[in-house]
Amino acid sequence: RTVTILKELEDTFGTPIGKLKQIADAMMVEMHAGLASEGGSKLKMLISFVDNLPTGDEKGLFYALDLGGTNFRVLRVLLGGKEGRVVKQESKEVSIPQDLMTGTSQELFDFIATALAEFVATEGEGLHVSSGRQRELGFTFSFPVRQTSIASGNLIKWTKGFSIEDAVEKDVVGELTKAMERMGLDMRVSALVNDTIGTLAGGRYHNQDVIAAVILGTGTNAAYVERANAIPKWQGLLPKSGEMVINMEWGNFRSSHLPLTEYDHALDAESKNPGEQIFEKVISGMYLGEIVRRVLYRMAEEAAFFGDTIPPKLNIPYILRTPEMSAMHHDMSSDLKVVGNKLKDILEITNTSLKMRKVIVEVCDIVATRGARLSAAGIVGILKKLGRDTVRDGDTQKSVIALDGGLFEHYKKFSGCMESTLKELLGEEVAENVVVELSNDGSGIGASLLAASHSQYLEVEE
Ligand code: BG6
Ligand code: GLC
Repeated sequence: RTVTILKELEDTFGTPIGKLKQIADAMMVEMHAGLASEGGSKLKMLISFVDNLPTGDEKGLFYALDLGGTNFRVLRVLLGGKEGRVVKQESKEVSIPQDLMTGTSQELFDFIATALAEFVATEGEGLHVSSGRQRELGFTFSFPVRQTSIASGNLIKWTKGFSIEDAVEKDVVGELTKAMERMGLDMRVSALVNDTIGTLAGGRYHNQDVIAAVILGTGTNAAYVERANAIPKWQGLLPKSGEMVINMEWGNFRSSHLPLTEYDHALDAESKNPGEQIFEKVISGMYLGEIVRRVLYRMAEEAAFFGDTIPPKLNIPYILRTPEMSAMHHDMSSDLKVVGNKLKDILEITNTSLKMRKVIVEVCDIVATRGARLSAAGIVGILKKLGRDTVRDGDTQKSVIALDGGLFEHYKKFSGCMESTLKELLGEEVAENVVVELSNDGSGIGASLLAASHSQYLEVEE
């Protein structure tokens, strides 16, 4: 029975190359549709109001605030200007209490503003803003936002387990600013950016060939540089640069070609946002471990995989987190000791045989492989949209994709599979010009760079 289930998993989770190509094409088609009109596609293709990426001339002391996962971070960055690069940076990480993720807007923003105020209070001798100047902040807010300017925008919906009803449709900069006022903190938000946009900006600062950024973390998303005149829905003036960065919100991508299984449908139906973020729910770190749990549950139920009774802990949603799944998947010991220990510690399942452990590693592999291959197909969709999926004679133009997020950084079998699938899809010749670059914490730096290039003091200096 177990063997049959495994075989069935391999089939239903399967991502043969032909299917991935269809998905890449569908991604490109949806990109066009989302750029054409508001609501034209599941892909929102949000206009970021970033029409100039960092040049390296950015200068001064700026703050950044990074909210989007279970941790949020505050940063203080001293930018050196011409060739100076980042002179110094300090940061603090604070985890967001679970209840704040589903509470009220005021509670969440007060919590953030309090942490920010405490951090500002530690501004030292070396790092301080010029006297008489208001402190400026780049705000990375990693949820879908309809921007109304570079420094304002309304939350469209929550994702990744956040659900704070009274914040939806509100201007998140307004909410943060009110909270800062309540804390007596005089600070101006000069750029509001998605984490993909921050990562793209941070990536570009170090490498001028960066054209897109992808996050593979708790959630997943991508941003890229588009020609402004290829965005029919853009009503504003054409920017001087001729470019506009687009936040795709690809987590909400959906296509009939996606290999969705009974486990995905059940996970979705029981989630906080049913029917939404379907691509995210098969790829990202918040969900991979949960899919594995659901598969193991069914094996316990239908094939008595763990014996006569179903281990009670196995019935607890989200108990198996993706980092634990990754640890089991990477277990190199001959008796799969790590797998055994994880099962014992997390699920209170003891006395597992080597054979059972092998099956569990196999399940992790099937689930991770599907996610990794689908994310590669998404990237190919972007390259296709930009006409960078082919090589013309002698073309050596590099297309660099800045990658960030815990899933990509820590789950090596996932990132390895993503990169090899990218090569498989592009073919050797094209793949030579496509570079995936880990841009660790690019988004915090990116937000401070964008805060600098949109500073209220810029003209004074020039
Ligand atoms: C971080 C970025 O490095 O990666 C965040 O600074 C981003 O803005 C995050 O949200 C995504 O990764 P994770 O794994 O924390 O969701
Ligand atoms: C979710 C958010 C998106 C973010 C991504 C990665 O998909 O909706 O805005 O970029 O997670 O953090």
